[in-house]
Amino acid sequence: MPAFADPSQQLDGFQWPLQPAEPAPGAMRRLRLAVMASGEGSNFEALTLACRADRPPADVALLVVNNAACGARERARRLGVPCRLIDHRLQPSREALDAALISAFQEAQVDLVVMAGWMRIVTPRLVQAFPERLVNIHPSLLPSFRGMDAVGQALAAGVRLAGCTAHLVNEEVDAGRILVQAAVPVLDGDDHASLTARIQRQEHRILPLAVGLAAQRLGLLAQG
Ligand code: GAR
Repeated sequence: MPAFADPSQQLDGFQWPLQPAEPAPGAMRRLRLAVMASGEGSNFEALTLACRADRPPADVALLVVNNAACGARERARRLGVPCRLIDHRLQPSREALDAALISAFQEAQVDLVVMAGWMRIVTPRLVQAFPERLVNIHPSLLPSFRGMDAVGQALAAGVRLAGCTAHLVNEEVDAGRILVQAAVPVLDGDDHASLTARIQRQEHRILPLAVGLAAQRLGLLAQG
């Protein structure tokens, strides 16, 4: 028995506070989500599966990737989620990239946009197009370790607690209103891969919860 048990296990029984909206006059429809991903896409897949289990009651209507070879694209194919490639290298500027993203999201008529491992800095243009509607997942307990390689920053700092944060996106990097956080221990002998894996298990839990909370704040989802 480790002296310091992994608290992620203790989240297994946590209560899901969000319920699908009651069908009522002018009944609320299911949320429509877009997801942005640059890499492996494990958060995209976890969110898609959570939505399919109505936690939250939402449909991932579109995945946008910026790398043709990223794992997220293959996961979208397997899951049957429409996927668009918008390659940042083919865009003249960050603003042009964000304008292309905005068009894709407007065309897909999504309520919320989720940055799930999007490795480009977004411009105010995207933030202003989706005020309070843009959610990001970051692998640290913000406000610690903003920016690139948060897991490496945590290991270098020698912290004993690491974690992840799902938050609303504002015009400052990794600084918007925090929705949900989860902490994990840094264990003796951890390396980048082992700590990343422990953090990502929690990301997969808190991102769907954060999306539900963001929707509740906007009145798009009933309170549980
Ligand atoms: C996740 O750990 C996410 O927190 C991180 O990228 C990973 C993507 O994994 N995002 C950032 O570092 C953004 N600053 P995934 O592609 O398997 O979901």
